[in-house]
Amino acid sequence: MLKKIPIPGIGHRVKSTKNPDKRVELLKDYARRNFPKIELLDYALEVERVTTSKKENLILNVDGTIGVLLVDLFKAIGYSNEEIDKMIEAGAFNAFFVLGRSIGFIGHYLDEKRLDMPLYRHPTDDILYDVKRPEGI
Ligand SMILES: CC(C)(COP(=O)(O)OP(=O)(O)OC[C@H]1O[C@@H](n2cnc3c(N)ncnc32)[C@H](O)[C@@H]1OP(=O)(O)O)[C@@H](O)C(=O)NCCC(=O)NCCS
Repeated sequence: MLKKIPIPGIGHRVKSTKNPDKRVELLKDYARRNFPKIELLDYALEVERVTTSKKENLILNVDGTIGVLLVDLFKAIGYSNEEIDKMIEAGAFNAFFVLGRSIGFIGHYLDEKRLDMPLYRHPTDDILYDVKRPEGI
């Protein structure tokens, strides 16, 4: 943050401390009630405490929450830090992310069919991420 590098999993365009993300609230609540330990979630919430003191929309977002809770989950079932790092490198956590989003896509698809609407196209400006372009593009 001090070096102006965005912290992954922090920040949302709409959600903020005043307008919390219900999905994040539900995930945190579930983990608090069911996980034996939530060390990484607690750490991420400490980070959020610092970032939201700067700007109220620099919250722990839903993807960040899923990411840290997956680590807490794998630790709880006995995976070592090295094994978890290997899974992250192999993209296993992204697979969980895709799985979660797929349920949303199915919902949109069914709504469009039910309401006889054309396929929804989200405005491109709203989905562009602030990342470095690969060389040659
Ligand atoms: C997160 C985001 C939606 C916030 O949008 P915004 O309210 O318009 O705020 P800005 O982008 O102008 O950033 C405001 C300040 O917060 C900081 N900031 C933004 N995202 C941050 C993050 N993830 N971690 C730490 N600081 C962050 C910016 O550096 C900026 O600091 P400055 O005022 O000292 O220059 C936007 O920064 C964004 O889309 N970032 C790229 C994607 C991203 O990083 N998403 C979150 C990670 S999954």
